[in-house]
Amino acid sequence: MKFFIDTANLDEIREAYDLGVLDGVTTNPSLMAKEGISGDANVLAHYKAICNIVDDKVSAEVIATDFAGMVKEGTALAKIDDKIVVKIPMIKDGVKALKYFHSEGIRTNCTLIFSAGQALLAAKAGASYVSPFIGRLDDISYDGMELIAQIVHIYQNYDFETEVLAASVRHSMHLLKCAEVGADVVTCPLKVITGLLKHPLTDSGLATFLADHAKAAGK
Ligand code: G3P
Repeated sequence: MKFFIDTANLDEIREAYDLGVLDGVTTNPSLMAKEGISGDANVLAHYKAICNIVDDKVSAEVIATDFAGMVKEGTALAKIDDKIVVKIPMIKDGVKALKYFHSEGIRTNCTLIFSAGQALLAAKAGASYVSPFIGRLDDISYDGMELIAQIVHIYQNYDFETEVLAASVRHSMHLLKCAEVGADVVTCPLKVITGLLKHPLTDSGLATFLADHAKAAGK
């Protein structure tokens, strides 16, 4: 299972990378805006800065919603670095763009997936990843995890190469459940990854070990 970090914050990306368990980064226009990044040149430079931190797989999202615009923007994004994965929204022209980039050998991440039908369509069009949003489905009383399991099942039926990249992952239980149902990738905030570390028995056990060691050493 791959761990991606879902942020455009360079410090958080560095911290996750330094932990040694990071396989990639996802961003979106909202996350870029949160970091105050705007203007074409700044956006491209920021993506390059992210690529300079991690080994591979940096999702960079197009803003255009028409086929020609997505091809133009996606091509420019892909030229930034070989690590870029072009992120395309699940809309009609987006499906065409997925097919185009597949034929060009450019990796894509189809975002804003909220149904198995959308995921099937993206896989047919040759998306490298699909991003179903768990938390946003949970927010409106749909079962986000059920969707992940459904897509994993469908892709296994037909040996699709498209990877299921679970997004809108809000807490560590989401991440663990994704592992149980076989998602290929989760993308999440840093706190969701570091949340896996925590257990009170680990903390109290370590404190006891260190105290016993100190006592034996006469300290
Ligand atoms: O990867 C998609 C993610 O950024 C959306 O997360 O928490 O805004 O639903 P959230």
